[in-house]
Amino acid sequence: VKRTPFIAGNWKMNLDHLQAIAFVQKLAWSLADAKHDFADAEVAVFPPFTDLRSVQTLVSADKLELAYGGQDVSAHDSGAYTGEISGAFLKALDAKYVIIGHSERRQYHGETDADINAKVLAAQRHDLVPVLCVGETAEDLEKHGASAVPVAQLRAALESVDASKEIVVAYEPVWAIGSGQAATPDQAQQVAAALRTVLVELLGEEAAQATRVLYGGSVKAANIASFLREPDVDGALVGGASLDIDEFSAIVRFKK
Ligand code: G3H
Repeated sequence: VKRTPFIAGNWKMNLDHLQAIAFVQKLAWSLADAKHDFADAEVAVFPPFTDLRSVQTLVSADKLELAYGGQDVSAHDSGAYTGEISGAFLKALDAKYVIIGHSERRQYHGETDADINAKVLAAQRHDLVPVLCVGETAEDLEKHGASAVPVAQLRAALESVDASKEIVVAYEPVWAIGSGQAATPDQAQQVAAALRTVLVELLGEEAAQATRVLYGGSVKAANIASFLREPDVDGALVGGASLDIDEFSAIVRFKK
């Protein structure tokens, strides 16, 4: 099965809407240039909610081949949930994706596997593609090895999902996020393969083979190609390096 490589930039709580406009305008030039070399990667950005309307306007006005999504979504569809953003609102801004279960949400906002499962189901109800994040801490790694926690998180998050709808999985070892110490390509491949084995069981062979599994954690221009050479790693979820236009442009233009 050929899976289209996916390069996703998670801006986290960075870039206000004016900075977002400037960034996307510059990125548009890089994407146009990249097309000359290879047009095989799908690129997406995940700005703060307050930037999404501006990004939508630029993408639609210039017909950019740039997808975008939210960094989180409410498990609820509407109602008295102060501060929450519904999947319906993201869909109304033509968002295609939504990040769910990022380790920063798990760690700082106490999101449980059950919360994350409810959010994945909410994303599916609104026809958003969940980018489901899983990953082990340094302590988990030491105690249980690399795959056990991500595999358990995957099983919990995908309970009762619709296997006919697209899902993206991002393997992000917590110890590699923002640390400058990325996993090795071999480590990423081993966990990605373990996740795909579980996807076969949960979604069936065909859906599992079509599902993109990303690696995230200190990805930069200098190491992107080494991850994408691995058979089960289909792209990257990039944090810090997605905020630097030159670095992100170079990542988008990776050559295997
Ligand atoms: O969502 C992105 C990840 O948390 C990776 O962040 O590239 O800054 O290590 P990083």
